Amino acid sequence: MKKKLFAAAVLAGLAGGASAQGTVNVICSVQADWCNMISTVYARTTGVKINLALKGSGEALAQLIAEKDNPKTDVWFGGTGDPHLQAAEMGLTLEYKSPSLPQLYPWAQQQAQQSGYKTVGVYSGPLGFGYNTELLKKKKLDVPKSWADLLKPAYKGDIQVANPASSGTAYTMIATLVQLMGEDKAFDYLKGLHKNVGQYTRSGTGPIKAVARGETAVSISFVHDAPQEKMQGFPVETVTPSEGTGAEIGSMSIIKGARNLEQAKKFYEWALTPQAQTFGAAAKQYQLPSNKATAVDANVPDFKKIKLINYDYAKYGASAERRRLIARWEKDVNSLPR
Ligand code: G6P
Repeated sequence: MKKKLFAAAVLAGLAGGASAQGTVNVICSVQADWCNMISTVYARTTGVKINLALKGSGEALAQLIAEKDNPKTDVWFGGTGDPHLQAAEMGLTLEYKSPSLPQLYPWAQQQAQQSGYKTVGVYSGPLGFGYNTELLKKKKLDVPKSWADLLKPAYKGDIQVANPASSGTAYTMIATLVQLMGEDKAFDYLKGLHKNVGQYTRSGTGPIKAVARGETAVSISFVHDAPQEKMQGFPVETVTPSEGTGAEIGSMSIIKGARNLEQAKKFYEWALTPQAQTFGAAAKQYQLPSNKATAVDANVPDFKKIKLINYDYAKYGASAERRRLIARWEKDVNSLPR
């Protein structure tokens, strides 16, 4: 009898490897270094394996729509908040009220409330422009200080921004402009900008990386994506437009029908802890973390110094609105010659 019990205990112990302790399938919409760091640390500290899929915010949403009837994803971590709100509205994500909610900043809690607790804010960051100081000097171009500046013919071919269908960063730009100018004026503006855009990239961080490498002089990017390029020695600076700008609420959602629901909840709770939230800065990504107790790195943009619009997250995260604005951009802007 004793022998049998011992054998059972040994077997249980052996089974305690990664597979027995579980797996969680995560779509990760921040930059790869942060995703990989999370996955390594989580596996080491919990024994739970994270299967990562790296996708931009718009692409992540498209995947979740495609796998709606047979979800292969448990958690969607990061990426701009608007498509997370759209996923919530479309019934793709699960209502879950984290006990950690009171520890989060009001903007992160508001994201949860507005979605019926189907998503939550994990970080925030303002939209602005990145520029290559050396290239601007070489081309005798001024630092752009406003949205209006970007329309100047001098920047023709020298501005990069992502495509709003795949990138949440680019959709944040469209929604910001619509809120700043009104929709028709914003689309006139986007048509003007189109003439100066050298390339629309798939990913939101493509343009700032192109600025860093000197492939383009100016990018429309989240300000918090620039310091890591600068740390690598690239001549990159940022500015936020004088007319005002929008900020994202990077979000996280549990997928409805998740096969590893218990593990999904555990990962979600972990990702809201101050300790887990320091891995963003550790991976040189400098968004403002949503847990009030998370240490804020000196590279995180100072929101108080930025003229921010009162971004209407509920409106621009609504399914019909996001779809309509992206379709209008495709039809009225992207189809035009440059
Ligand atoms: C970067 C930023 C994140 C943002 C994400 C959106 O990773 O650091 O703050 O949420 O881009 O990516 P996307 O490709 O959807 O624009």
